[in-house]
Amino acid sequence: DKYTAEIKAFAATKADELEAFRIKFLGTKGIIKDLFDQFKTVGPEEKRTFGKVLNQFKQLAEEKYSELKEASANTADTATADIDKTLPGDGFELGSRHPLTLVRNEIIDVFKRLGFVVAEGPEIEDDWHNFSALNFPEEHPARDMQDTFFIKKNSGTDDIALRTHTSSVQVRMMENGKPPFRAIMPGRVYRNEAISARAHCFFHQVEGLYVDENVSFADLKQTLYHFVQELYGEGTKVRFRPSYFPFTEPSAEMDVSCTICKGSGCNMCKYSGWVEILGCGMVDPNVLENCGIDSKKYTGFAFGMGIERITNLKYVIRDLRLFSENDVRFLKQFQSEI
Ligand code: PHE
Repeated sequence: DKYTAEIKAFAATKADELEAFRIKFLGTKGIIKDLFDQFKTVGPEEKRTFGKVLNQFKQLAEEKYSELKEASANTADTATADIDKTLPGDGFELGSRHPLTLVRNEIIDVFKRLGFVVAEGPEIEDDWHNFSALNFPEEHPARDMQDTFFIKKNSGTDDIALRTHTSSVQVRMMENGKPPFRAIMPGRVYRNEAISARAHCFFHQVEGLYVDENVSFADLKQTLYHFVQELYGEGTKVRFRPSYFPFTEPSAEMDVSCTICKGSGCNMCKYSGWVEILGCGMVDPNVLENCGIDSKKYTGFAFGMGIERITNLKYVIRDLRLFSENDVRFLKQFQSEI
């Protein structure tokens, strides 16, 4: 009876108290084992009543134990009761975004604010979307100019290759929709070049396309001027130099004033004060027609830049190979919230 009352009143909250309870009553040297030993010694006429009481007692102890154990597992309080919850938690290390991802997102953000949407397309392209629709004449050295990785090459027009630029996405977009188009095309592109500090067999581009009625070269200039101010800061100077691309006419390359040293000798600009960052131009009417767009009604501009180049200039990175080596000492230096 004494023990019955003790068991009923017992309310352990800590794991060690509960364990002490188990050892005291249910353990191999516990009270219940002891009582069962005594049971063997009582006379046969007492065995019936004693046995009944003993079994009830054992059941009570076991039920109490499993009930408390379940309760303690549910609250989890028993294990942490001694922990000071006002102490700050253990810190954990966050990964960081790849610098090319950071800069790509930044470029996308600037153009999104100007109303450009993001378009994507396949990295394995056919000749039409990568070259022919873009006004590259067949057998034109321009195809070699981009040092293409061909997957299938025979007649020219049914060649399959790794895309050399994301202009192919512009073609797909124009073929599948109706003007106006205002989109940027970020993506990985491939060119068969020897790997060095300044060249790689793949890199990342953001190209852009704006097609509507009355789009002019002035729109092109203002858009890209605004982009550079946002990316490299107010007051960054730009200049346009005439250039040539099969898919734009007229074509230009845009330089920015060296953002690192403003031309005073960081060597990113080879001391000239200017660095080329992109190619651009008015979409050639042939390209519009190839994509089923009326070139008498619509005009457009296009541009394309390498994200690596933009990133190098922003963070003074002088070796392209760092971007694909996954050295954490390099990657860890880029922390961000996005
Ligand atoms: N497609 C060109 C390249 O990869 C870049 C470009 C795009 C130039 C659009 C002009 C207009 O080099």
